[in-house]
Amino acid sequence: MVSKDDFRGGMARFATGVTIVTTLDHQGNLHGMTANSFTSVSLTPPLALVCVDFRTHTHNYIKALGAFGVNILSQEQEEIGGYFARKPQDRMGTPFQHHLSEMGLPVIQGSIAYFGCRVVDAHVHGDHTIYIGSVDEMALGNKANPLLYYESRFTNLGQA
Ligand SMILES: Cc1cc2nc3c(=O)[nH]c(=O)nc-3n(C[C@H](O)[C@H](O)[C@H](O)COP(=O)(O)O)c2cc1C
Repeated sequence: MVSKDDFRGGMARFATGVTIVTTLDHQGNLHGMTANSFTSVSLTPPLALVCVDFRTHTHNYIKALGAFGVNILSQEQEEIGGYFARKPQDRMGTPFQHHLSEMGLPVIQGSIAYFGCRVVDAHVHGDHTIYIGSVDEMALGNKANPLLYYESRFTNLGQA
């Protein structure tokens, strides 16, 4: 069987963009986590998915709310990517601003694109749940170079 470390090392060769998956906690406050498992599933109807580890707070908040936002980060937002990759108790300051969308989901200011998703299906596999969302709203920010993740590090098109 392929070990967890070998699999992680192989997947690190797959360059991705970086998103912040946003939702609301049980008090109705913004909660987010950095995620690169985001992908589109279908164009008609518009569906997207994100794979969320059972051990994250985000996992249960999405389960309870039935909705999540996906904010695609620009290369200027690396600090935000690092912030939301840490556990909540290790997050210092607030390196972002946000507003709520029509669906009531947090939109990170400066993101190059935002998608608001209503959970229509969830599949548990291994230690993650695949949340499939109907993309019910979206917004485009200013066009800017994306933040990338490759070989376990943030990078960008200029450095690549
Ligand atoms: C670039 C990057 C991508 C990540 N992608 C995911 C992901 O797709 N799914 C996931 O469950 N965790 C992912 N993580 C880890 C979470 O961001 C991390 O566990 C976070 O602390 C979870 O926060 P929470 O427990 O407050 O929800 C990623 C981390 C990084 C740095």
